[in-house]
Amino acid sequence: MTRCVCPGSFDPLTLGHLDVVERSARLFDEVVVAVLYNPDKQGTFTADERVGLIEKSVAHLANVRAEAFADELLVEVCARLEAPIVVKGLRGETDFSYELPMATMNRSLSGLETLFLPGNPGMDHLSSSLIKQVAGLGGDVTGMVPEPVIGPLLERVGASR
Ligand code: PNS
Repeated sequence: MTRCVCPGSFDPLTLGHLDVVERSARLFDEVVVAVLYNPDKQGTFTADERVGLIEKSVAHLANVRAEAFADELLVEVCARLEAPIVVKGLRGETDFSYELPMATMNRSLSGLETLFLPGNPGMDHLSSSLIKQVAGLGGDVTGMVPEPVIGPLLERVGASR
């Protein structure tokens, strides 16, 4: 059995993330969506809230589960989960420049491999931070995040006008 990890901050999960998770679920026997700490990003949802939103959004995928990990390196998480591969989506050159050093660092730390899936072109503009900005200023986020995320997102950052 081959297990992979889809790691990220997922604050919150977007439809772009979900696309990568769904495609990973077709490639691997089991997928663990790992909510991890990114020191460069400020949190809007707690780790447990993010896991809850992911679980609701992947309910249609029998071989996918979500879990949060605190204060741990991704390579340690993957070793414990017995997952030799992480999968990440690439929306373009900016993602590649951001992801490549992390992939190389992880491989040098433990041999952990990273598989990059090209992002779905229609979803290249979807990022958690941009979507929160749109929601915060009263924009329509339908079609940007999974259905279970819409309500909690508007409640947390939505414009009150
Ligand atoms: O969705 P993000 O925020 O771009 O994901 C980045 C994340 C959380 C996967 C990365 O910061 C990470 O792996 N954090 C865990 C700590 C760690 O292993 N850091 C070294 C990465 S080379």
